[in-house]
Amino acid sequence: MEAAVTPAARLDLAGRHIVLGLSGGIACYKAADFTRELVKAGATVQVVMTQAAEAFITPVTLQALSNRAVYTSQWDAREPNAMAHINLTREADAVVIAPASADFIAKLAQGRADDLLSLLCLARPIERCALLVAPAMNREMWAHPATQRNCAQLRLDGAVILGPGSGEQACGETGDGRMLEPAELLAELVAHFQPKALQGKQVLISAGPTFEPIDPVRGLTNRSSGKMGFAIARAAAEAGAAVTLVAGPVPLATPRGVRRIDVGTAQQMFDAVMAAAPAQDVFVATAAVADWRPLALAERKIKKGAGRSVPALELTENPDILAAVARLAQPPYCVGFAAESHDLLEHARDKLARKGVPLIVANIGPATFGQDDNALTLVDAAGQRELPRADKLTLARQLVAEIAARLR
Ligand code: CTP
Repeated sequence: MEAAVTPAARLDLAGRHIVLGLSGGIACYKAADFTRELVKAGATVQVVMTQAAEAFITPVTLQALSNRAVYTSQWDAREPNAMAHINLTREADAVVIAPASADFIAKLAQGRADDLLSLLCLARPIERCALLVAPAMNREMWAHPATQRNCAQLRLDGAVILGPGSGEQACGETGDGRMLEPAELLAELVAHFQPKALQGKQVLISAGPTFEPIDPVRGLTNRSSGKMGFAIARAAAEAGAAVTLVAGPVPLATPRGVRRIDVGTAQQMFDAVMAAAPAQDVFVATAAVADWRPLALAERKIKKGAGRSVPALELTENPDILAAVARLAQPPYCVGFAAESHDLLEHARDKLARKGVPLIVANIGPATFGQDDNALTLVDAAGQRELPRADKLTLARQLVAEIAARLR
């Protein structure tokens, strides 16, 4: 029996120092929450605010949340050399402007430097201190050719534009221009720091259970939560891949930047996977596909009652999706999962041969279904390797690194 170990919380930004710049906009209220998210993820945060930002939120709030005095002026007397714009960026791993107003973006695009925040953006060591910009403005301001031109210029200059999101705006209008939510900004920043081991690759992932209907209200399914597959989708996207996720019925949120195709039955999953597979570099089959489905689907709910016999379910086998992809003339690099209750390695070796794939990831099904952590064993022709118990995203990132190494 494996001990129930709860892995330590993942500190995705441990050791990172972030300069968080606020320019003027109502989205400044979200910057407070974002500061908290950054600190919770292990980062140290130095907040810098423009004068306009101070009209929306006080430096005291951000000082309390970041546990550091906020900078608002290039004339700040705290710096012995009077060069806050240099000092602040030399220790930073990234400068994040959230919110970035239309005016501030215009300033950055022109390389102007008439306040501390714009000054430090210009003075940062461009090779090792990234600039990430989260626009926040009314939809007309965002859509204006000047703003679009300025953002295009910022991208050319090496900055990363985060979002913006779409939806209801503070002004009452609806459209593009909302600042991304704090959790979305955090996911973007964490992804920014991940190694780009799958840059330019196409990755297809199947995840979750399938649901095989018996009648309009019942069906056959299993206890797969989809968490491992969704974590791999996120890790692959963080690593720079274009990710397609074919998901059975699970209530999980789609990882940022991932294309999701929802399916119900094994046959629907087969159809979606086979349509996408020829264009892929990698296929990771994490789905717990139902092996069988009812031979016939009752059109009406099957009723019980006096005189009615217990219905007998006749089953037929579902197609093996992983084996079918592995049999393509030019298959992507195929990775299978083996969820077992016993004899893990023996079953994993058997699946390696039976499915004709180069890598099987073995785990104990009942110990992982629905959990946030897991332990994996990678089994291939050369041998086996353990990935010790950790949260699923940590394991997913390790697996992505392993896959990328095998592609090279
Ligand atoms: N798989 C699949 N299509 C199926 C069944 C399985 O693509 N119809 C994939 C799973 O996504 C997984 C691997 O094959 O990557 C192994 O799945 P598993 O259910 O463990 O193996 P089975 O072949 O179904 O064998 P068994 O149920 O007897 O263990």
